[in-house]
Amino acid sequence: MRRLAEGLRGQGRVAFVPTMGYLHAGHRSLLEWGRANADRLVASIFVNPAQFGPAEDLARYPRDFDRDRVMCEAAGVDALFVPASADIYRPGHQTWVEVENLSRGLCGRFRPGHFRGVATVVLKLLNIVRPHLAVFGLKDYQQYLIIRRLVADLDLDVEVVGRPIVREDDGLAMSSRNSYLGPEERLQARVLSRALAEAQRQVDAGERDARGLSGKLTELIAAEAPMVRVDYLALCDPATLDEVAGLGAETLLAVAAWVGKTRLIDNALLRVAPAGAA
Ligand code: PAF
Repeated sequence: MRRLAEGLRGQGRVAFVPTMGYLHAGHRSLLEWGRANADRLVASIFVNPAQFGPAEDLARYPRDFDRDRVMCEAAGVDALFVPASADIYRPGHQTWVEVENLSRGLCGRFRPGHFRGVATVVLKLLNIVRPHLAVFGLKDYQQYLIIRRLVADLDLDVEVVGRPIVREDDGLAMSSRNSYLGPEERLQARVLSRALAEAQRQVDAGERDARGLSGKLTELIAAEAPMVRVDYLALCDPATLDEVAGLGAETLLAVAAWVGKTRLIDNALLRVAPAGAA
């Protein structure tokens, strides 16, 4: 891969889309952005064991390499890197990357070690592929901020690009894990994106109190989707992820919830319209 990547770098700007496979329209939008904004496009598929906790879904994480390869080819991927676990974590591996503060809250609180696994593998993949641009989906907003911080703190010569969440027609954020949902769970999962939309409506109607807003949204989820169990629903500063008491011009609303045995995340940037705007 390194030899190939060096050759690609000689042909122009290289965009890189790292993934864990089981690609969907959200991934396709990242590939399309990379294709349109660089000369060469590299993707990777690696279900990274280091970012799964011992009780998490590593063994059952969905995989369909043949379908993924077809999607990558259709999206104009020049090189698809599919390492084995033993290639990435070789015997004696003992170096880990930790992005401290940004990894503590939100999913970090519920998935200890997860972001250490993400930061380490992303650094390794960036070192192997050496792209000019690395493209990530904003559904994993915390991951995106952590990777930006990692790149800045370790002086990596790559531009990190975050691309908008892609949703199903009914609002559910695209995720490989949506494939776990049974029919009733799939219906109830829609409540997450409905809660995000309701939050923006509440802000538009003048709500500025974070506790009041999160209380209303938690109630809405409980009332409309009894199968959904919220891990967190947090209103945060979109740069630091610190929880806020009041809503400013832009506030990140991030939610993680279990629907049956499936853990889903979603988020939205809530905006307070400037005074005088319609
Ligand atoms: O977002 C993902 O699919 C993964 O966390 C990533 C960035 C490919 C690292 O394993």
